[in-house]
Amino acid sequence: MNLTNQQLLQHQAFINGEWVKAEKSFEVKNPYDNTSLGEVADLGAEETKLAIEAAENAFIPWKNLTASKRSRILKKWCALQHKHKKDLATILTLEQGKPYAEALGEIVYGASFVEWFAEEAKRVYGDVIPGHGNDKRITIIKQAIGVVGAITPWNFPSAMITRKVAPALAAGCTVVLKPSELTPFSALALAKLAEEAGIPPGVFNVVTSAKASIIGQEFCSNPKVKKISFTGSTRVGKILLSQAAEGVKKVSLELGGNAPFIVFDDASIEEAVAGCVDSKFRNAGQTCICTNRIFVQEGIYDAFISKLIPKVKALKTGSGMEVDTKVGPLINMAALESTKALLNDALSKGAKMVEGGNHLEGLLFEPTILSEAQANMDIFKKEIFGPIAAVYKFQTEDEVIRLANDTNYGLAAYFYGRDYARIWRVAEGLEYGMVGINTTLISSSLSPFGGVKESGFGREGSKYGISEYLNIKSMVWKI
Ligand code: SIN
Repeated sequence: MNLTNQQLLQHQAFINGEWVKAEKSFEVKNPYDNTSLGEVADLGAEETKLAIEAAENAFIPWKNLTASKRSRILKKWCALQHKHKKDLATILTLEQGKPYAEALGEIVYGASFVEWFAEEAKRVYGDVIPGHGNDKRITIIKQAIGVVGAITPWNFPSAMITRKVAPALAAGCTVVLKPSELTPFSALALAKLAEEAGIPPGVFNVVTSAKASIIGQEFCSNPKVKKISFTGSTRVGKILLSQAAEGVKKVSLELGGNAPFIVFDDASIEEAVAGCVDSKFRNAGQTCICTNRIFVQEGIYDAFISKLIPKVKALKTGSGMEVDTKVGPLINMAALESTKALLNDALSKGAKMVEGGNHLEGLLFEPTILSEAQANMDIFKKEIFGPIAAVYKFQTEDEVIRLANDTNYGLAAYFYGRDYARIWRVAEGLEYGMVGINTTLISSSLSPFGGVKESGFGREGSKYGISEYLNIKSMVWKI
């Protein structure tokens, strides 16, 4: 891997401020060409216990620093992420596959959480509440929870880390992070920069492992861990939630989605098509908030599809390192097989292929449009996580709200239209944690990110994000 700062490419885990070897290692591959990017330490439960212990030992001194001091250290970490953004983006693209411009965007997006929470560290305000008697006063303080076990996914190898670690550290917590085994290099590069920024030993630890379930189990069963924050599949989220129940740990889960994208007949079709392409094909369709079901009102259905076709045809597939690539490879064979299976199921149930539909070389799949999609197809129910745009026709507002909500998921939803009364009704009627109205650009450190139903609970980013890492303590005074 050719980087300006070769130090950012680390192969060992990071525990208690030290780079730790392991007896075993696992290989990380570039999903574009299947070449090896190197080996990374393969840790197990024992090393994870040590990391948790280090985090516990670091907790009291870290939380006892003033908020301004923690804030200054976080700001330094943020500045280093900006300084090294090109290298960080290169690492990200090589191990994850997304186009370099998207990777660069992710690094800047990720750093924005560090900047935001560096500021929020200073705003952990308490309350004074009128007492329940003349001689009573009630005060509220908020205190750092303790050691956090964070588990992050491969689709955002950098930003999902900063979105958890920055608020945790800002609150005064310490963290043991388990990044995805498919994309550990981005996490280790962030740890290298954390070290350089002066984050003290034990405050931020990275446990790399090919055995995710063993690390997750240790996080959930170890009494020293007080909080679990997970981004990933609903299936794994449910396992972690049940394991964490034993120790009644505080949990945040950012899980799968099945985002509806609704276009009403008074929408700007051009804007809707542009938003649809961005939100459907970003990261080759592999984000939890990617458009999954496109509902277009019958009067504009044909016009929408005919404007969508050329935009999708123009999306160049290829290596994320080539400047004109817009859609990179899928992450692995399982993702490819699942994309093909969803397509075949839809075609067998009457969907029409209007664009794409082919598996290209390696893990590249052609950006695809299906028309005449129906609710009985698997593609309606499952998170696609691939570059297939399935377009459904609807007639009325009530019908489309019912269809949009007909899923166990509830992460993001989008709709386009102009009638302001309808905008309110639809936005209120959608059972989702986040709703984009005439936009799909909903991700920002300023806005709460999270879902309802089986998409999880807890919020990341915004003024709410830090509270996931704080306990409320009430103090009742007799005066
Ligand atoms: C995700 O897919 O989980 C994160 C997407 C985002 O933050 O925009």
